[in-house]
Amino acid sequence: MPNNFESPEMTTTRTTTTVAGSTSEAQQLRSVAAAASGTPDDHIIIFDTTLRDGEQSPGCSMSTPEKIQVAELLEQMGVDVIEAGFPIASEGDFEAVSKIAARVKESVVCGLARAAIGDIDRAAEALRPAERKRIHTFIGTSPLHREFQLQLDQDQVHERVIQSVERARRYTDDVEWSAMDASRTEHDFLFRCIETAIACGATTINIPDTVGYAYPEEFADLITKIRNSVPNIDKAVLSVHCHNDLGLAVANSLRAVQAGARQIECTINGIGERAGNCALEEVVMAVKTRHDQLPFQSRIDSRKIMAASRLVSAITGFNVQPNKAIVGANAFAHESGIHQDGMLKNAQTYEIMRPEDIGLVKSNLVMGKHSGRHAFKTKLKELGYELGDNALEDAFVRFKALADKKKEIFDEDLIALVDNEIASADQKIRFVRLDVHCGSHVTPKAELTLAIDGVEQAASATGDGPVDATFKAIRALYPHAAELPLFQIHAVTEGTDAQAIVTVRLEEDGRTATGQSADTDTLVASAQAYIGALNKLVTKRGRTAPNAVAV
Ligand code: KIV
Ligand code: ZN
Repeated sequence: MPNNFESPEMTTTRTTTTVAGSTSEAQQLRSVAAAASGTPDDHIIIFDTTLRDGEQSPGCSMSTPEKIQVAELLEQMGVDVIEAGFPIASEGDFEAVSKIAARVKESVVCGLARAAIGDIDRAAEALRPAERKRIHTFIGTSPLHREFQLQLDQDQVHERVIQSVERARRYTDDVEWSAMDASRTEHDFLFRCIETAIACGATTINIPDTVGYAYPEEFADLITKIRNSVPNIDKAVLSVHCHNDLGLAVANSLRAVQAGARQIECTINGIGERAGNCALEEVVMAVKTRHDQLPFQSRIDSRKIMAASRLVSAITGFNVQPNKAIVGANAFAHESGIHQDGMLKNAQTYEIMRPEDIGLVKSNLVMGKHSGRHAFKTKLKELGYELGDNALEDAFVRFKALADKKKEIFDEDLIALVDNEIASADQKIRFVRLDVHCGSHVTPKAELTLAIDGVEQAASATGDGPVDATFKAIRALYPHAAELPLFQIHAVTEGTDAQAIVTVRLEEDGRTATGQSADTDTLVASAQAYIGALNKLVTKRGRTAPNAVAV
């Protein structure tokens, strides 16, 4: 990264300001928490980075309206800080951060910036409309990052810390500084950079385990050492940002809290680079369920967890594995006879959490073709969806159409139906109609009508199979050269009348986009999922490829 800081007069000698004397452990803990804007000692700040680190994982991209939807739900959940994006990365990221900054009032809205003037100024500009804003600036501090990624020595990195934090402080009092790859950084150098960042005005110090290498005891030990060795540490909140490469992100984050960290950076469903980030739902429910081990509180309304999980999964097309802790389809399912027997006698025999605490409701409201608008709306509310009037009406029409085709409408069907509605809002290319002719003795042929920018157009195509013919018809109507690295079909429920949920991922010039759709007709779902992905790809064209600024 070029050095685009213009202040040669800044030198490392300006950073020797420290806070005199060390405080007792209890005092330190109190002051760390107090720095978190008047929150009590036992409060854990939940910093959600679904829209930044989560979105950075390949195929996980979201459009601006989708990001706004997620941000609004995160705000309703009680997330303290929403990292809304990386404004210098692309026009799309800038726009999303700016729009979220204008809408979100309760949570702090945060934008990421490398240690570079252009990044920090751009983040500040995107955050301008925010009522409560944070600039999060970072630099790699480990030998590997210094030598190979940055080609800077320790003193040069240290100088960048001063310049970046001071620059960010021009725009806001709420500045977070991260030592990227902190867990593999020499301790002396890490402590020196932290002390400097705080002296320059950083109010949150984030310790990322960027490559998911740390072990819980080792990571807790690092947090303890930071608290004992950095003289001015009581002037900032200590934060942790753990990746899940060894499946230890949640364990590392919780151990870090026991050692004195008071902010956890996490994502919904644990999405994120490679094996992902620390999962928000797991941290929140661990703290809630094991208060004896973790005597802390978060502000999160855990009853919104399922809704957030479903929304992120529907938007990104990243299905949640059935056995995923808290939000997986099997997390509260009991199949074996002995478990079912125990559950019937006392739910606590096999359940450590109540399903309703994460927003899973057992409802008596059975939906079918005779159900009216009011029952439909009530049911969606139970499932965690609150749609606006127009979206509700569209969803109701689709529900009636589905009820004509399918006798029993399960909760999963309604979830798939509403997720379709969410995914197809504001699309440039819209599905109108599909007729497919196929069988063992005919060449598969698809006749497709799409509305492109509101104008209906039709085409037909033949292919090696009905799906191939359908996708060729889409390409005939909207020519493009994207590859198809993923095409996946699942049944939403059991039975031959089950809806198919189809996920399609497209890739073009290093950009990926995922679409998902459900329908009782697998081919219609396939076409809609493809069109969903294509719409996202089209929106991304002409924007900086994410790799250009990968962190
Ligand atoms: O993993 C990481 O180190 C990051 C930083 C930008 C905080 O995502
Ligand atoms: Zn990260």
